[in-house]
This record gives sequence, structure tokens and C-alpha cells, in this order.
Amino acid sequence: MDQLVIHGGVPLKGEVFISGAKNAALPLLCASLLTSEVIAFTNLPDLKDVNTLIQLLMSMGVQVEHQKNSIRLSSTSDINSFASYELVKTMRASVLVLGPLLTRFGSAKVSLPGGCAIGERPVDLHIKGLQAMGAHIDIEQGYIVAHAKKLIGTRIFMDTVTVTGTENLMMAAVLAEGTTVLENAAREPEVVDLASCLIKMGAKIKGHGSDVITIEGVKNLTGTDYSIMPDRIETGTFLVAAAATGGEILLRGARARSLDAVLDKLAEANAFIEHNDESIKIRMKGTNHGVSLRTAPYPAFPTDMQAQFMAMNAVADGTTVVTETIFENRFMHVQELRRLGANIEVEGNSAIIRGVSKLDGATVMATDLRASASLVIAGLIAQGETVVDRIYHLDRGYERIEEKLSNLGANIKRQTTEVHS
Ligand code: EPZ
Repeated sequence: MDQLVIHGGVPLKGEVFISGAKNAALPLLCASLLTSEVIAFTNLPDLKDVNTLIQLLMSMGVQVEHQKNSIRLSSTSDINSFASYELVKTMRASVLVLGPLLTRFGSAKVSLPGGCAIGERPVDLHIKGLQAMGAHIDIEQGYIVAHAKKLIGTRIFMDTVTVTGTENLMMAAVLAEGTTVLENAAREPEVVDLASCLIKMGAKIKGHGSDVITIEGVKNLTGTDYSIMPDRIETGTFLVAAAATGGEILLRGARARSLDAVLDKLAEANAFIEHNDESIKIRMKGTNHGVSLRTAPYPAFPTDMQAQFMAMNAVADGTTVVTETIFENRFMHVQELRRLGANIEVEGNSAIIRGVSKLDGATVMATDLRASASLVIAGLIAQGETVVDRIYHLDRGYERIEEKLSNLGANIKRQTTEVHS
């Protein structure tokens, strides 16, 4: 398995290019199932999760021409509407093929995604919404088996804000009979990116970016070409790494308007931030004050940035509180940060972080994608050598992170360890 070996204490300096957004690319790739015409995406991130989904789509019969950061897809009528457990269990967002398959082909057999390290991750709201549109859905041996002669538009209230739930139902609605209204919809920029691409394909969507999205079904959609939005969580991760190491960096291709809550918190932590439409610049004005935060659906503070801020808070002045309200088990990085010398106590869904003067390098283990990012940031701060193990988690959501960090002056290397069976 691969590891990252980091010698910390170096302030990050220089420029970094932000890749396309993982959480926009995944639903956008599934949108290719909605038309028989060619869809061409650019600014595609070269990530494990993206490549896994591309494998799944190819296994279903989607024609694919894939270069590293661009792809053309087309799905003619002989698509096999089956998504196996083997593929779905490695990448839960594969459940996003369900809505498109059902609305275009009238049937789908998709494995239930199962849980992951950060929580149970149910998809009951995806299923309930599709049933409300007239789908017949059974759960058979761990598979969602769905049929629908024609989905019928209706009003759907989601009692929990769900990002992929909103995306799945929006894609199901674009080819349904009549109008669908999604209430309490997710407002994330990735939902807006998907809606923008669907509108280019001929879909009739209003209210995307608000909590009420109205979709008027159309007979069919055309192909299009679309550039995927920049990854706001990769952007936030590099911003926090620069702040935590007392550095100064320029992030090219970053979209500040998708990160207000994160930029506000960094300013509160004593960072100085300038930005225009396609870049952000950050440096610290003085010592790192650390910040308390509470995660919540967009536009509030994103849960995917919680672990990274906790690493920065570990060496900040004073005590901060981090509260996680979205996932039930998203503090797996705490015990690993403690191994580096952090002083963190967990009480329910809150972590109390008492800043310490320094962290000391150690071997730590990545457990999930954003926890891994937190450990890398902690390694960049810590004195001495930190080894982050099981970094396959990291490769799911960050494109060449050690290369990008090295280019910013970090002393970081990837090494492969022999796996002794
Ligand atoms: C998306 O996951 C993101 N993934 C996650 O990013 C992100 O953390 C999450 O949204 C929240 O912002 C992708 O977009 C591919 P949810 P998703 O449905 O859609 C509950 C990363 O690190 N819920 O918004 O799976 C659920 O249990 C990943 O890039 C139901 O109860 O998350 C959770 O408590 C991690 N029933 C809450 O809603 C459902 O049917 C929010 O989950 C669906 C969700």
C-alpha cells in the first residue's frame, strides 16, 4: 500500500492549480445516460472515484473516449441497466445511475451502496422520491430493483437535505411526464453545476441553488459539451494547509463564490484573503487564532472541510469547538491527530480542541477521504517525520496531492510498501 512521508515545518509558498470537482463530476458523468447523443466534459479530475464510475458506465455499455482530464460519452438504447455490488461498494455515488436509468430506460438494478467509515449513508430519500414519481421499487438481495413505465412529475419534500438525493431526483425528473417540484432541495454548487449542464442538454429546470427546484419534464435531451466546476473542497484543503503552515499561496482556477463560509472562517482565524473570479490568494496576518465551527448544508460550513480545520485548530491559540451535524461518525481523524500530540476531546458530535504549541511527527492511518487530508495537513505542521498510511483514501478525492504540495515547497514523498500476505 502507498504511504506519504512528510517532514513538516515548511510554510507553503507559490501557486497551485485547482482540479475539477469530484462531487460535480460524478453526477455529471451519470447524466450521460439521459441522452443517446455525445456528451463531452472537460476539466475532468483524474481521481480514483471518477475512474471507478467510468468503469461502471462502460460495464453498462456506455461508449467512452477518456483522456486524463477530458471525456466523451454516449449511451445508445442497448444499455445494461445493472450496477453490481462489486463496483457500487467501492464508490457509493454510483447510486446516481438510478434516476437516469429509470427515467430513460424504465428499469434499473443497482446495488444498495452500503455504509462507509463516516456513517450509515442511507438512500431511503432517493427511493422514496422515485416511488412518489410512480416507480415500483423492491429491495432484493441487497439490490434496488426498480421499474417504471413512465415517471410522473410530482411534488417531493425531502425531510433531510441530501446532495445526491437531490441530484438523483432532478435527473429522474428531466424526462418525466409533467412537472416535479423538489422541496428542501440541496443548494450545493455541485447541484447547480449538474442543473446547468442538464439545461444545456435541453432540460427545463428552475430554482437550482435554492431549496425549491422545479423541473418540467421534456421528451428527450441532446448532447452537449461542458466544463466541470473547480473543486471547492480541494480549494479549501489547500487554503487551510497554507494557513496552518503560515505560508502564502495563490490558487489558480479557484471559485471563491462557492466557499463563502470557509473563507469567512479562515479570515476569523487571522488569514488575509484576496480573490477574483478565477483565483484566490491567502496568507496569515499573524498567529493562527483557530476557529470554532458547526457543519451544515450549503451555504453553511461544509462537512467536507471539518477535518481539515481541526488540524489547523490543533496548533492554534486557545480552545475551539468543532461540531459535526451531517454525519454520525466523522471524527475518525481525532485519534490519529492525538498521536501527533493534539489535545482533542470528543463529546457527542462536538470535538473540543485545546491548541498546543507544536505537533510531533508519527505514523498515522487514513480512514476516510477528508480525514486523510486532515492528517496530511497535520504532517505539514508537525516537527519531524510523519508517515500517513492507507492513502488510497486520499487518492479517491485529490489529484496528485503530493505533487501539488511539493510544488508549494512541502517536503512530502509517496512511497510504496510491500504488502506481505
Ligand atoms: C454528498 O454525499 C457528498 N458526496 C459528500 O462528500 C458530502 O459530505 C455530502 O454530500 C454532504 O455535503 C458526493 O456528492 C458524491 P447526503 P451524499 O445525502 O449525497 C442523510 C466527500 O468527502 N441521508 O447529502 O451521500 C445522510 O445520512 C464526500 O467528497 C438520509 O438520511 O450525502 C446524511 O446524514 C463525503 N437519507 C445527510 O442526509 C438519504 O436518502 C446528508 O447526506 C440520503 C441522505
